[in-house]
Amino acid sequence: MSDLPSHVAIIMDGNGRWAKKRFLPRNFGHKAGVKTTRNIIEACSDLGIKALTLFAFSSENWNRPKKEVGLLMELFFTSMQAQVKGLHESNVRMQFIGDVSSFSEKLQQQIARSVALTKDNIGLELRIAVNYGGRWDITNAVRSIARQVTAGEIDQEDISDELVSRMVSLSDLPAPDLFIRTGGEQRISNFLLWQLAYTELYFSDTLWPDFDESELELAFKAFSSRQRRFGCTGEQVEGTKEDA
Ligand code: IPE
Ligand code: IPE
Ligand code: MG
Repeated sequence: MSDLPSHVAIIMDGNGRWAKKRFLPRNFGHKAGVKTTRNIIEACSDLGIKALTLFAFSSENWNRPKKEVGLLMELFFTSMQAQVKGLHESNVRMQFIGDVSSFSEKLQQQIARSVALTKDNIGLELRIAVNYGGRWDITNAVRSIARQVTAGEIDQEDISDELVSRMVSLSDLPAPDLFIRTGGEQRISNFLLWQLAYTELYFSDTLWPDFDESELELAFKAFSSRQRRFGCTGEQVEGTKEDA
């Protein structure tokens, strides 16, 4: 396939509705969603995508019923435990963005083990966003920059787009080229607010547990037909005008 995105960011949404349609408890949807996650990671890895950022749990998802949050944490732990070895064998490098400090000790240790095991891999850069919020991310960056100014390490005038980009999550990767949200909702839900500035947005009605490789290819196909202008004119991008 031509013009594949280098960095894909996905809001994996629709697990609850998938279960509801089947008269099952929401957790069945989350379990089915884990299988999709695994398949999509493998598919991206096989296609040679450089980076994949997945929204697994937002800072607002704590507001769900206690039981659902507990089951999500448990599922998060068991699926990581079950899958990290396979991901390592696929040369995937796993890292996490978000405030993991509010997770249980057990979960934090599993996260640390997964990162440590895969740290030297040179295949797909997988970033899992957990207890992540775009506003939290920007707020953190603002706080660190304010600290540096107060400490006299930088001048107020040194605060630039580039500096902020270095202080937010995913600063070691190019910004996402393609954002995908499944499940039919067309919103960002406090995902990567800074990083998505020029990302192509793609919304699929398919519920996450039903999202498969062919759906991913549809998204990539849509992406390849987009013209990314970054503020320029179409003619400039195509290089068809003298002043291009
Ligand atoms: C996404 O599916 C998973 C998480 C937010 C953890 P949802 O659980 O939001 O599914 P819907 O949107 O209720 O169908
Ligand atoms: C966004 O989905 C978060 C994740 C998929 C992890 P939500 O289901 O929480 O988003 P809203 O509440 O519909 O905006
Ligand atoms: Mg949802």
